[in-house]
Amino acid sequence: MPGASRRGRFITLEGVDGAGKSTHVPWIAGRLRAGGREVIVTREPGGTPHAEALRGRLLAEKMDPQKETELMFEARADHVQKVIRPALERGAWVLCDRFTDSTRAYQGAGKGVALERIEALAAQVHGGLVPDLTLVFDASHAVSRQRLAGRPLDKFEAEGAEFFGRVRKAYQDLARTEPNRVHIIDGSRSLDEVQAEIEKWIAVL
Ligand code: TYD
Repeated sequence: MPGASRRGRFITLEGVDGAGKSTHVPWIAGRLRAGGREVIVTREPGGTPHAEALRGRLLAEKMDPQKETELMFEARADHVQKVIRPALERGAWVLCDRFTDSTRAYQGAGKGVALERIEALAAQVHGGLVPDLTLVFDASHAVSRQRLAGRPLDKFEAEGAEFFGRVRKAYQDLARTEPNRVHIIDGSRSLDEVQAEIEKWIAVL
């Protein structure tokens, strides 16, 4: 197509645990594929054998927040190099369940790792690779607890209300500072309402 970029689009899904993010992934992928595009669905931490092995440790082991941040980026480096960049370069669209905004929110705001450190690692690991669109699924602590009830919780899901509040606020701040990329979606509404809003953001890409 004349003038059209060959590079695919990079869409990330973010948000506090229990806001319904994962429920929407297959639906979004289906919507994008219906438009005839090649769509890669992937997640972080994870997406490659090495990064998935690190995920196992990151979600289970108690560790120093600096170390945790470094391991998140070690997993991300492998994922970006082997999966995300090659897909975007061949024109595929990449739908990624969490990316660097999770590190900003969880390790930065949640656990107090300096944002300068996070941004330095981000620059080193993925340089100018910034998502074209980031949808942040938001819900109150009460709604999140209700959604997660009865499931085995990973290390992050088991954190308390204060941690949850810091992570939630970090996402709201990101949406304020990067309004063209980051959009908050109220995940406590009905599936139909949430999907109609997602549709609106996808349509402008
Ligand atoms: P999540 O994506 O919610 O998966 P599931 O729905 O299977 O539980 O879980 C990943 C967890 O990892 C989530 O609690 C947030 C955390 N995380 C970070 O703390 N920092 C990061 O950089 C990333 C990518 C994830």
